[in-house]
Amino acid sequence: MQEKAQALKQQFVDKVNTATASADLEQLRIEFLGKKGPISSLMAELRNVPNDQKKEAGQIINEVKQFMESTLAEKREEIARIEEEKLINSAEDYDVTFPVTEDKGSYHPITLIQREVEDIFAGMGFSIEDYDEIVDDYHCFEALNIPKHHPARDMQDTYYLSTNQLLKTHTSAAQNAILIKYTKELEADRPIRVIFPGRCFRNEKIDACHENTFFQMEGVMVDKDISISNLIYFMKTMLSEVFQRDVTVRLRPGFFPFVEPGFELDIQCAICGGKGCPSCKDSGWLELCPCGMIHPNVLTAAGLDPETYTGFAFGLGLTRLAMMRYGIKDIRVFNSCNLKSLSQFENTTFVEPEKEVK
Ligand code: FA5
Repeated sequence: MQEKAQALKQQFVDKVNTATASADLEQLRIEFLGKKGPISSLMAELRNVPNDQKKEAGQIINEVKQFMESTLAEKREEIARIEEEKLINSAEDYDVTFPVTEDKGSYHPITLIQREVEDIFAGMGFSIEDYDEIVDDYHCFEALNIPKHHPARDMQDTYYLSTNQLLKTHTSAAQNAILIKYTKELEADRPIRVIFPGRCFRNEKIDACHENTFFQMEGVMVDKDISISNLIYFMKTMLSEVFQRDVTVRLRPGFFPFVEPGFELDIQCAICGGKGCPSCKDSGWLELCPCGMIHPNVLTAAGLDPETYTGFAFGLGLTRLAMMRYGIKDIRVFNSCNLKSLSQFENTTFVEPEKEVK
């Protein structure tokens, strides 16, 4: 048995060394390990081995079998790597200008809703800005009146990078840079009006309405005499435009160190009509757009005099807005890559807004 097994092993090694494609390996698997292969035959032969030698003989066959399986797995990985490299190297033959003849794909629902909201705010005189996804502690927290070790940091479970940077936990991380960049508007006696959408990351426990990667859209307006009335007006206008009807919202006090006073703007759940369902954690309401009057310390950090200027800021949960707008019950759909679910929303036509990129 020992000799037979060794001979078989050698025969397998010789063949596996000459394999150059995944198909060759599959062929070898069937040849050696298949039902009609030599390993199965050896197993059958065990019947004729004397009882006192059966255990040892069985072990020998099993070792050879395991050797074959692990060798095939390693070789499979090696060949896959080589095949992938070949594919990448042949990419120069790929003509990116070749006209698309097949299905052209569709926009992701987040892209659709983002562009729609951008359009609405652009119509109200807001500029649109883009901002980094990797930011530093100063911009994400300190410039927003959240010093180191402040308990408010616990509200956003942050992914820190080894470079002393972090993945943006909220679009507010861009506020300081945007206010500084747009100070020239105030100097020219015009208000600062900017929205800045972006992807945010938090180490969240994922459920039907929480993701670890989601989108927000921040907005700020700063001028002399800006008040909460301006804030409410812009929020209501935006939501009724998005839903093409009056929507039921509620405003309640909310704490964010970078606004004073701060509010939570909730929208009545469009999935259950306010009755309560998993999408709204059975509350009938969905936290959608925290907002408030920009804290004097945040204005000061951006070099603006809080005695002269006031402003509002809001942080719209874009992913949750898309859920409500398109009736998507589970937030996990957005990052699922499930084309069947994601490709059905593109019946909205919109003008591609001009986007100012940093
Ligand atoms: C903030 O992120 C504040 N920066 C918002 C803000 C801006 C307040 C300006 C005041 C002024 P909050 O953590 O509540 O706040 O998130 C804002 C919105 O983002 C939520 O209402 C929700 O709609 C969305 N959101 C937050 N976490 C998640 C998550 N894990 N998954 C999906 N959406 C989320």
